[in-house]
Amino acid sequence: MKITVATVKPFAPMAVKLIRNLTKDVGYEFELLEKYANNSELIEAAKNTDALIVRSDKITREVIEASERLKIIVRAGAGYDNVDLEAASEKGIVVMNTPGQNANAVAELAIGMMVFLARGFFNGKPGTELKERKLGIHAYGNVGKNIAKIAKGFGMKVYAFDPFVKKEYIEKDDVKVIDSIEKLYAKCQYISLNIPANAKTVNSIDYNLLSKMPKDAVLVNTARKEIINEPDILKMMEIRPDFKYLSDLAPNCKEKFEEKFKGRFFFSPKKMGAQTIEANINAGIGAANQIVNFFENNDKTFQVN
Ligand code: 3PG
Repeated sequence: MKITVATVKPFAPMAVKLIRNLTKDVGYEFELLEKYANNSELIEAAKNTDALIVRSDKITREVIEASERLKIIVRAGAGYDNVDLEAASEKGIVVMNTPGQNANAVAELAIGMMVFLARGFFNGKPGTELKERKLGIHAYGNVGKNIAKIAKGFGMKVYAFDPFVKKEYIEKDDVKVIDSIEKLYAKCQYISLNIPANAKTVNSIDYNLLSKMPKDAVLVNTARKEIINEPDILKMMEIRPDFKYLSDLAPNCKEKFEEKFKGRFFFSPKKMGAQTIEANINAGIGAANQIVNFFENNDKTFQVN
C-alpha cells in the first residue's frame, strides 16, 4: 500500500516526518510531492498511489480519472470544495476530510485579525478593545466553536446562527443562539464567517445581509473567498465608510480595495488560517491515521462523498 502526500503548500517539516514515520511503521510506502509547479506532476503522483493526502490542492476530474489504483483521498483540513466529489464517487474513490484538526489555528487567526484591525494595524494611535463588543458567529462548526471560546476569554458577547446545529450544543458554551441570519447580522458589530463553500453558499454574503450590520461593522472571513458576493461587498464599502473587511484570502477584486478603501481592510498575503506547525501535525497525522484505518478496518468515518 502506498500513501502520497501531494501539497503545493507544504506541511511543516515535523508534520511530514511524523506522517512518514507512521506510514513506515505500518509497512506502507510513502511518497512526497511538494511545491509542484504543474498539474501534470500531481496527475503523475495520483496515478501511482493508493491514497492521497492533500490540502487546498485542486483534485479535479482530470486528476481523478488519471488515477489507476487510487482508493482514498483525504483532504487534511475542513473544507473539501477543492475535490471533485462526483468524479471520485464515479470511480469508487472514498473522499474524507479531517474535521476539527486545524480549527484552533483558524480561530486564533480570526481573533488575531480582529485585534490587528481594532488597534489600527498597530499604528501607535489609540484603537479600540474587543471586550464587551458583540461577535456573531455565522456557522457553529469546529472553527466557530473555537472562536467563541477565545472571544469569550476576551470578554466579547458571543452570538451564533447555525440551522444545522442543535441549540443546546451552542448554548452549553454560553453562546446565545440567534434564529435567523438577518438578525445575527443586525445584532453584531463583528461577524465571523465559518461556512463552507458550496452551491448554496457561494456568493451568499451579499449587500442585503451586510447592510443590516450596525455602525463600525467588521466582517471577518477565514472561510472561503467564494462565499462573498464581490460586487456587493464593494458596494457596502462604498456606501458605508464605517464598514471594514478582514479576510484570510484576498478577493478577486483586491485592486479595487487597494485603490479606494485604504485602512479599511486586511487580506493575508497567503492563506494562513491553518498554517501552524500544530495544525499541520494534527491534520496530517489525522489524515494518515484515517487512511490506515480505512485500509485495515474499512473505517469510513469522515467520508464526505
Ligand atoms: C481548511 O479548509 O481546513 C482550511 O482552509 C485549510 O486550508 P489549507 O490546508 O490549504 O491551509
